Amino acid sequence: MSTLRPIDLRCEHLATAYGLNSSTPRFGWALEGDGIGQYQSAYRIVVTDSDRSTLLWDSGKVASAETQLLPYGGEPPPCDHVLDWTVEVWDEGDRSTGPSAPARIFTGIGDADWQAQWIARYFVLPAGREVPADNTYDNRWQARPADYLRRSFASAESPVRATLYVTALGLYEVYINGHRVGDHVMAPGWTDYHRRVEYQVHDVTDFVAAGENLLGAILGEGWYSGRVGHNQRRAGNHYGGRPALLAQLHLHFADGTSSVVATDEHWQTRQGPICYSDFLMGEMYDARLEHPDWATAPGSLEGWQPVEVFTPDPRAPKLDAARAQPSREVARLPARFSHIAGNGAAIFDLGQNIAGYCELTVATKEGARFILRHGEVLDEEGELYVANLRHAVATDVFIAAGKVVETFKPRFTFHGFRYVELTLPEGTSSDAVKLTGIAIQTDTPVTGEVETGHAMVNQLLSNIFWSQRDNFLSVPTDCPQRDERYGWSADAQVFWKTAGYFMDVSAFLTKWMVDIEDGQSPDGAFPDVAPTKPLNPYRLTPQPGAPAWGDAPIIMAWEHWLRYGDRNFLARFYPAFDAWMEHIGSPNPDFIRRNAVYNNYGDWLSVGPASDRTLVATAYWHRVAELMARIAETLGRTTDSARYGQLARSIGKAFCAEYLDDTGRLTGDTQTAYLLALDFGLLPDPHRLAAAKRLCELIEAAGGHLQTGFLGVRHICPVLSDNGAADLAIDLLLRDTYPSWGFSIAQGATTIWERWDGWTPEKGFQSVNMNSFNHYAYGAVGEWIWARIAGIDSSTRSPGYREINLRPLFDRRIGHCRASYRAHVGTVSSFWRLIDDNTAVWEITVPPNCQAHVELPSGWDAGQPIPIIPSGTHSYHLKRMPA
Ligand code: BGC
Repeated sequence: MSTLRPIDLRCEHLATAYGLNSSTPRFGWALEGDGIGQYQSAYRIVVTDSDRSTLLWDSGKVASAETQLLPYGGEPPPCDHVLDWTVEVWDEGDRSTGPSAPARIFTGIGDADWQAQWIARYFVLPAGREVPADNTYDNRWQARPADYLRRSFASAESPVRATLYVTALGLYEVYINGHRVGDHVMAPGWTDYHRRVEYQVHDVTDFVAAGENLLGAILGEGWYSGRVGHNQRRAGNHYGGRPALLAQLHLHFADGTSSVVATDEHWQTRQGPICYSDFLMGEMYDARLEHPDWATAPGSLEGWQPVEVFTPDPRAPKLDAARAQPSREVARLPARFSHIAGNGAAIFDLGQNIAGYCELTVATKEGARFILRHGEVLDEEGELYVANLRHAVATDVFIAAGKVVETFKPRFTFHGFRYVELTLPEGTSSDAVKLTGIAIQTDTPVTGEVETGHAMVNQLLSNIFWSQRDNFLSVPTDCPQRDERYGWSADAQVFWKTAGYFMDVSAFLTKWMVDIEDGQSPDGAFPDVAPTKPLNPYRLTPQPGAPAWGDAPIIMAWEHWLRYGDRNFLARFYPAFDAWMEHIGSPNPDFIRRNAVYNNYGDWLSVGPASDRTLVATAYWHRVAELMARIAETLGRTTDSARYGQLARSIGKAFCAEYLDDTGRLTGDTQTAYLLALDFGLLPDPHRLAAAKRLCELIEAAGGHLQTGFLGVRHICPVLSDNGAADLAIDLLLRDTYPSWGFSIAQGATTIWERWDGWTPEKGFQSVNMNSFNHYAYGAVGEWIWARIAGIDSSTRSPGYREINLRPLFDRRIGHCRASYRAHVGTVSSFWRLIDDNTAVWEITVPPNCQAHVELPSGWDAGQPIPIIPSGTHSYHLKRMPA
């Protein structure tokens, strides 16, 4: 028996595929083993029905070392089925592992299988019906109550298999016979609902019984009709005016028959205890209005009204199976009582800035009212600081029913917060309540763990991780707290490589790239944000992407390729990328990007002298042209590759002619100008050295500080360490005076700030107009900590981590770095430790089937040449060579 083991089975990047969007889903697995130089010589994939009665596909033994994205080769999988698949692999000695434990695929249902109709709360009540009393609708923001919907159905016997397909325009929670189905939050997630919506698949076999059953759902507004963004003229109703539900329950019985229960005109609706629920405003829950049995027993019909069969406007969205993991509650943090604020309310502290909500447990009297306000920071007086939330009210209200113990947790809102200001009903002390913070995010699996011997660096890594977690909610957002929360594309592109170390973002990007493509205008413009905001009153088409924003899809696609080796992804979106290149290329015949730059934001939020925006735009154009040449080459499009290569050269030439003077200085003479020019390969060799030197001088002139904004920040440490200034890069990393990463940490930051000067002792808070304490863009330094301090990086020679670059930097102040990254192919780790200034030990693990290229830190010697390293664990003793 081989010691090689296939683990982490994935179908279309997911451990369990809940619905397929393709008839040739792709399979992949990681390998683990415990020898040196182990590899896979062959594999065999077997796909069966989950009861193992039917074989759908057997690949047979295939002589191949490939472990990723292998397409299914059987007849198209039948819809509404549950499949199991296994993989067996053979090692280098042709020894078999035996079949792996099975992974599951729910095949989902196709367009033709949907019988359900969209249903919603009546818009105008049928004549003669009584209008339900609705005294809470009248809140300040006219945020609407949640809708409860249900229908009962009879089942002659218990099904052997029951699968629920469900989605909403808005947000939903679904129940069968009183059981909450699944653990998703904010389902079905955010897409451009005018074009597409994703549905979820749940195995509900255990919930349906013989006899009378009840299927119920609660609908909230979410991204569909609730408030998103900052435009007060169109604060909400971006996609429609009221949420709607679509559900279809498939029941299969032992005798081979089946039946379907679907949303239709037979459902009923009413309002309940959720008086309103809105992302930005918060949720009000009046427990006295609960109908405890609403989802358990048909009970009384009182208060229930017929639903309206609803026609989505302007068109019915396409129904796709969810491409990424669902969003879930991922962490619970106890809130500690801190102090009593000036207004008498109790301030609680989670110790961590999160995106999510609180769970409040109380024992109190009927009608007691609890108000929870949420904020990221406190002001100098210890009061909750909410000015930076702009129009987001971020307040939840709970009115108790007076039960022995009751627990409130909002359903359809979330806040970005570390502190909670809790106003208690009179006579209740803060000891009588229990408050817990709950963090939510799209449940992208955590893949990276990294730790160093430097406390501030560890806090920085934690802050980056949390800003990612807090902003990866269905789409990667800029921030989770103020009235914004959009999928801003440049923020994401500068951060994408960092994100991929901490979490598996393969499925998440696959989903978001579809959103971006949905937002592309007919003339090729990618949007600034995706999903787009369709009903922006100022324009009918989305805001076209600025340089570095609109370029983001190409940059992220390249990173996705390097990390996961997903060629189909490049092929799938290539036409969209090509259209974007045409869109920005044709208006700029002299190869300087002056036109089609839209909201040319430049090196957003930099401090110090501003970089020339056209220079930055042109540098980015060169970057994407060069990446397109590589993408086209990868796809075998040689003519396109040559065309893009030529374009990159023309832009490079024009860039130097326009921006490089005789002394080797770039226009504006800013850090970011040199960083982009160096990292994007815009300077001819003789000028590179001078540019790198000038960059170091500029940093020195700034008192040893960076001055970059969103665009420069990603490059500063990599460029320095690749150009002979690794010590200066580490100086920047460890600095804690303004502006630096350490400065925010010295002020107590637990997430990455939007601005270097979000708060300073001299000036206090930055402008209330834009000052988030949870924006991941400046966390883009994370990739360098992973790739150069830990030293774990992908390789262009063999993408998907089949080949790994290992090139750490040792530093006395950092002391040690222990990192482990779970790549799709297997786990890579690197652990170095300085014993003294001149001696180090380094242990690395390369997963089976992979090899590593090692580059020792300059000046260090292992006493032997380190060749290309095969899989396995290897240890080295290193000495620093005398200078
Ligand atoms: C967002 C950003 C975004 C920017 C565009 C801001 O309001 O918060 O992070 O990239 O606008 O410049």
